[in-house]
Amino acid sequence: MRAGPRRTPAQLPRLDCVAVDRSGDALRRVADHDWWHTIEVAPGVVTPGGWDLRPTAARIPWPASLEGLRCLDVGTMDGFWAFELERRGAREVLAIDLADPARQDAPRPGRGSPGRPTPPERLRGASFRTAAELRGSRVAYEDLSVYDLSPAEVGHFDLVFVGYVLQLVRDPLRARHALGVLGRSVALRATVAGRDASH
Ligand SMILES: C[S@@+](CC[C@H](N)C(=O)[O-])C[C@H]1O[C@@H](n2cnc3c(N)ncnc32)[C@H](O)[C@@H]1O
Repeated sequence: MRAGPRRTPAQLPRLDCVAVDRSGDALRRVADHDWWHTIEVAPGVVTPGGWDLRPTAARIPWPASLEGLRCLDVGTMDGFWAFELERRGAREVLAIDLADPARQDAPRPGRGSPGRPTPPERLRGASFRTAAELRGSRVAYEDLSVYDLSPAEVGHFDLVFVGYVLQLVRDPLRARHALGVLGRSVALRATVAGRDASH
């Protein structure tokens, strides 16, 4: 076979190389974490979390538009719902979680405790930051308990999203009260049945 003309590096299809390299980098960075959520962090690169909530997100009766809204995602874990709010046009999204699971007030086996610190690799936040960076997201993250949310601390929100968190706190009514003060609208997913579930 006759070899084609030799191309200089400048003549190589550089955009293709960049795309391949980006998804390779994304795959490497995804492999650094354990994932809770399935999140598309780059075209064709999806985190291997056990909770693929994309079908759920498609069924939620969101407001017609989130454009211009300031939104809060409580107990964000890897950030699926925060990124979904952003994807749907929210002007600003704040995601909060307890970085150290040992600070959760409903103790569970295997979790750290003040006497037995959580190993660094089990602290939350790193997977969120990786997903946010890879997605080019502007969602902000704060290490905050739902109990400590107050307008003085974080301001007010047009929409507060709470996905499966109130089952995990010892005082859900106290948490629910803190959320009610913050937002015009509070969406509780799989937490409280009835009126609150969809708006
Ligand atoms: C089961 S995960 C749900 C993750 C996500 N919201 C979802 O719907 O898929 C529960 C999350 O709530 C967080 N959490 C538990 N207690 C909390 C508290 N007091 N304040 C804020 N987040 C809390 C946990 O750290 C964890 O990220």
